[in-house]
Amino acid sequence: MFDTDDIPSNPTDNPHLGDMIASRVSRRSLLGGALAATVVGLAGSGAFGGTAAAASDDHRGNDYDDHDDHHDDHGPLLGFTGIEPSTDDTVRVPEGYTWDVLIPWGTPLFNGVTWQEDASNTAADQAKQVGFNHDGMKYFPLPAGRRNRNRGLLVVNHEYTDASQIYTAAQGSTITPDAAGQEKVAKALAGHGVTVVEIAQLSDGSWTHVVGSKYNRRITGTTPVTFSGPVPASHAMLASTVSPTPRGTLNNCANGFTPWGTYLTCEENWNGYFGTDAAFTATPLEARYGVSKAGFGYNWHKAEPRFDLQVNRNELNHFGWVVEIDPFSPNSTPVKRTALGRIKHEGATVVEARGKVVVYTGDDENGDYVYKFVGDRPWREHRARRRSPLDHGTLYVAQFDAVGNGTWLPLVHGAGVLTVANGWADQADVLIRTRQAADAVGATRCHRPEWITVDHETRDVYVAFTNGSGNNAAVNSLRDPNPYGHIVRIMEAGANNAALTFSWDIYVAAGDPAYDATLPATQTIFGSPDGLWMDDDRRLWIQTDISNSSQNLASRFYDHIGNNQMLVSDPDTGEIRRFLTGPRGCELTGITVTPDQRTMFVNIQHPGESTTYWNTLNGGAPTVSNPSAVSSWPYGAGHRPRPATVVIRKLDGGKIGS
Ligand code: FEO
Ligand code: CA
Ligand code: CA
Ligand code: CA
Repeated sequence: MFDTDDIPSNPTDNPHLGDMIASRVSRRSLLGGALAATVVGLAGSGAFGGTAAAASDDHRGNDYDDHDDHHDDHGPLLGFTGIEPSTDDTVRVPEGYTWDVLIPWGTPLFNGVTWQEDASNTAADQAKQVGFNHDGMKYFPLPAGRRNRNRGLLVVNHEYTDASQIYTAAQGSTITPDAAGQEKVAKALAGHGVTVVEIAQLSDGSWTHVVGSKYNRRITGTTPVTFSGPVPASHAMLASTVSPTPRGTLNNCANGFTPWGTYLTCEENWNGYFGTDAAFTATPLEARYGVSKAGFGYNWHKAEPRFDLQVNRNELNHFGWVVEIDPFSPNSTPVKRTALGRIKHEGATVVEARGKVVVYTGDDENGDYVYKFVGDRPWREHRARRRSPLDHGTLYVAQFDAVGNGTWLPLVHGAGVLTVANGWADQADVLIRTRQAADAVGATRCHRPEWITVDHETRDVYVAFTNGSGNNAAVNSLRDPNPYGHIVRIMEAGANNAALTFSWDIYVAAGDPAYDATLPATQTIFGSPDGLWMDDDRRLWIQTDISNSSQNLASRFYDHIGNNQMLVSDPDTGEIRRFLTGPRGCELTGITVTPDQRTMFVNIQHPGESTTYWNTLNGGAPTVSNPSAVSSWPYGAGHRPRPATVVIRKLDGGKIGS
């Protein structure tokens, strides 16, 4: 059930970035330590001098983001003492910091609902409670457009639900073809999507959520949605017998946000919800997106025909998009922005390049690609004409070469190979079949591109490639199939994020120097980078998602690294320090701060999920009867584990990380 995004569905023999990196890393080790140090810790802004000045013009014109143009800290960028790895069932932060739990799964957003510890909240309850498995997230100050540091909206993705955690012991985890099964699927659907919740800081510095705020909202797997851009809801390939009007967003992984104050939620592993008991042969398009008879084993199709591939196959095409939400308008309809392509979107990182929006997005599957969308004209012009800047522009896919250069290849109908003669009907067809279009133009395969962040001074683009080791596949060597992952830096030509060529290098090859002699002996050990975000002061925050089939296992080279964690790096020196360790079975994901950087919010996703190492030690995997087999975080013994947001503050009131 886990890490299904490890399973490749790319049938091409397009070159693989992992091979290029493996050969660079091995060349580096042959050449010796001095070069190793320069490549691993390569200083971005210095090495590409002159780019920062050009970028800062853009930056000053940017009135939406949180970047302060003056920093009031004069200390070192990383001002804390890094902490050790941990296997404890708790959150640890450096000395001088404190953490609290906010909005765990099931927290009531409205009056009239109460949390039930035995998981007996109904589907109708769940639709009024915080969803499950918090992921990408953004703090929007209230009132809209201000920089308020102690009152705002927290908008949080909920990626998926865990059948061993969300149902009662009496309900069981099996989906049956009856009313009980329908209620269980309905509860799972209500646990997905997005939470919008008003939060406020109290006089003692702690944070609380506001029950019944007019802004509070749940968007779920059944909320009505619309389509915009080149693929309209009326498109023949979206004509669904079970959803005549489209509904829902699923597997909401990482996120983005726009200059005009909206939130972007990204649909990642949507394919796994679908299945069938009928005979099933996937079309090439379906196979390319990993659609299969069994799906991820959720069996929702047994109770809900919407997810039965035999009943309805066009419902598949409703998913795989970036969805725009206006958090300040609780009655607004979420919009699927089709110009950004249909893939397994990890996130959608929006930056501005000479007034145009540029949106970076990774397709998190082993062998899939990195994309960017470039607006066709300044976003303010589109907004002034009441058009979405995300509906007008060009989608590109990255092609990397072995010597450190690259090209953004357009996915435009009629250009190159994407012609009618080659079977591409129109731009809508190119976008519904984005992966196949990218295959056709010769994109470079990658080891699972996850989050992407952009340095607002140098305009360098950082991409987390989490790992290349398949689910339970044998790990043959330390770089092949790449169990630890790496962070790659893309330097766009002219420090212009709209440029069509770039150079690239390895920012850091993650790993454990005790196993991997190619790494500097002093490198901080970590693996499987996933969340990636650079703050105002250019601290590069790194969140890990070591799969639960690898955590703590010597056979996976992960026995020294401990539970999933968050680290922070100085991009000018390459130094990395460990800032936070999470409880058992979790991953760290989602990160946002208040505009003054004095409060940081991060998410603990899937604490207590089935984890090979802990299952073995603790006498079995979690079940509805024993949901706490791996973890009882955050409330300890006698309580079930609950995904939650963690609020981090510095005891002296300083910026987080300083
Ligand atoms: Fe949802 Fe690729 O992490
Ligand atoms: Ca992720
Ligand atoms: Ca991941
Ligand atoms: Ca994960």
